[in-house]
Amino acid sequence: MKILIVYETLTGTTQYVTEVMQAKLTEFGHQVDLHSVRYQGQQPELSNYQVLLFGAPTYEDGKLEQGMRVFIAKCKENLSGYKVAVFGLGNSTYPLFCKSADILEEWVTQQQGRVAIPTLRIDGFPDDISPIENWIVQLDQALKSGS
Ligand SMILES: Cc1cc2nc3c(=O)[nH]c(=O)nc-3n(C[C@H](O)[C@H](O)[C@H](O)COP(=O)(O)O)c2cc1C
Repeated sequence: MKILIVYETLTGTTQYVTEVMQAKLTEFGHQVDLHSVRYQGQQPELSNYQVLLFGAPTYEDGKLEQGMRVFIAKCKENLSGYKVAVFGLGNSTYPLFCKSADILEEWVTQQQGRVAIPTLRIDGFPDDISPIENWIVQLDQALKSGS
């Protein structure tokens, strides 16, 4: 399937995570593009894709970073026709751990979307990529079973 990962990164961790996801999804035969709202603009062409992944880190006491904040404020796309999944990054030393994931999930619901699998939350830098790869396996199964 054609998949777009829309993401935000400030210090590169989310970028790294998207590359791990892209590699694993490609292994499963999907065609995957990455779109950084920070570096490639806040209006990606979503309609070219069947599956959309949204991911962002948490900053400023539980907020989305600026680029993703602007993206979700501007994007009025009805997401009901897409397969959607969400992932968030954070660090559990902060009181509002991984709030970006909650904010993105809530936004997907507001846009009439529904997440195909439970949201992934990543604590700190993922030295162990197996939880990310396992989440991709779960996503691939959901996509292939049509859920
Ligand atoms: C100034 C600052 C504020 C942060 N605030 C939060 C927070 O409120 N909640 C959280 O879970 N993580 C917080 N984090 C952790 C980042 O979300 C985490 O390091 C993430 O992996 C960074 O992703 P990036 O490298 O893609 O920018 C904060 C990090 C920094 C440097």
